[in-house]
Amino acid sequence: MASYKLLLLPGDGIGPEVMAGVETVLGALRETGLADFEAETDLVGGSAIDAHGVPLADATLAKAGAADAILLGAVGGPKWNGVAYEIRPEAGLLRLRKDLGLFANLRPAICYPALADASALKRELVEGLDILIVRELTGGVYFGEPKEITTLPDGSKRAVDTQVYTTGEIERIAHVAFDLARKRSGRVASAEKHNVMKSGVLWKEVVTQVHAAHYADVALEHVLADNCAMQLVRAPKQYDVLLTDNLFGDILSDVAAMLTGSLGMLPSASLGAVEAGGLRKALYEPVHGSAPDIAGQDKANPIAMIGSLALCLRYSFGLGEAADVLERAITDTLAGGARTADIAAAGQAAIGTRAMAETIAAALKARVG
Ligand code: NAD
Ligand code: IPM
Ligand code: MN
Repeated sequence: MASYKLLLLPGDGIGPEVMAGVETVLGALRETGLADFEAETDLVGGSAIDAHGVPLADATLAKAGAADAILLGAVGGPKWNGVAYEIRPEAGLLRLRKDLGLFANLRPAICYPALADASALKRELVEGLDILIVRELTGGVYFGEPKEITTLPDGSKRAVDTQVYTTGEIERIAHVAFDLARKRSGRVASAEKHNVMKSGVLWKEVVTQVHAAHYADVALEHVLADNCAMQLVRAPKQYDVLLTDNLFGDILSDVAAMLTGSLGMLPSASLGAVEAGGLRKALYEPVHGSAPDIAGQDKANPIAMIGSLALCLRYSFGLGEAADVLERAITDTLAGGARTADIAAAGQAAIGTRAMAETIAAALKARVG
């Protein structure tokens, strides 16, 4: 069995707790012979600031570039509220995404059958939900220049963020969305605000052109991003692949998370372009953050993180079977009634982060053995 090189970046807050869950599952994958990994751990975010004064050391970036895949827990937290903007914890994650060229962020929002009553929405609205948000990750207002706060002559201040998209950036993410839609139900909804933003006008135009030139077999719908947020709460099952920009994708994926029961359920894959030999740079990260309100209490749901490992098996290593077994182990675990506090029904007993990861690892072994 080939041994792949993983870089684990647990980060801050609940990051190390949910990453410990990944290590538990890596042990089970190794024991069952499904996959074998050499895993190295390093610092990112606030923990890297504490150790090196920066949220991503150059040496860590170099390791990330050399790894077969990277798994990241979460960054940030109140401890680092006072650090300079340029070196805040989140800047470490943004540098990883940008410098490794991870432009395509896939955020699947699946409502597991056992959790149809855990969503904030009625069971019939979310039962069977399976949406894939395709978020552009290295452009838009996150990276556009200028990005600054200046002082005006009267002493007041002016803050600027710049939303920028080029044809090439929109084309490549559109291809990702349409290609994935072909393997699913063949439907893409593209969300922007062409009614207010020039970048929205270009987004709609380019997505329309890519569709017409290459994907006549896929159904394309354009939706204004504000309406899309409302539709996700009104009738989410109308969507299959949802294509959108960096900022709208950030917001719409947190909305989608609550359709599945909890932000602690949503995994993601941040992928670069396919390089020679079929390889691509990739980082796998839950959609949630460092959850300072529950950090250090063994309360966090590790499923988003463990689900990100399943995406890693599938997208980085072509281990579709191992990914399926891991995802089924999560389904079995939920069907068996295991719940962390965020997905437990009123009055239902909750287990901790560690116990949830161990239950998933045991379910995985039971499926194989
Ligand atoms: P958050 O996602 O950390 O938490 C929002 C809410 O969801 C909290 O109540 C939290 O307890 C809950 N939650 C999140 N993950 C959970 C899990 N796995 N299990 C159970 N409950 C969970 O968002 P926030 O509080 O707005 O941000 C906290 C910090 O995290 C900020 O510094 C922010 O910048 C950072 N952040 C980092 C990432 C990342 O590293 N990818 C993503 C989002 C936010
Ligand atoms: C996410 C997070 C990040 C983002 C932050 C922490 C930089 O919210 O991955 O969803 O805004 O992209
Ligand atoms: Mn976010």
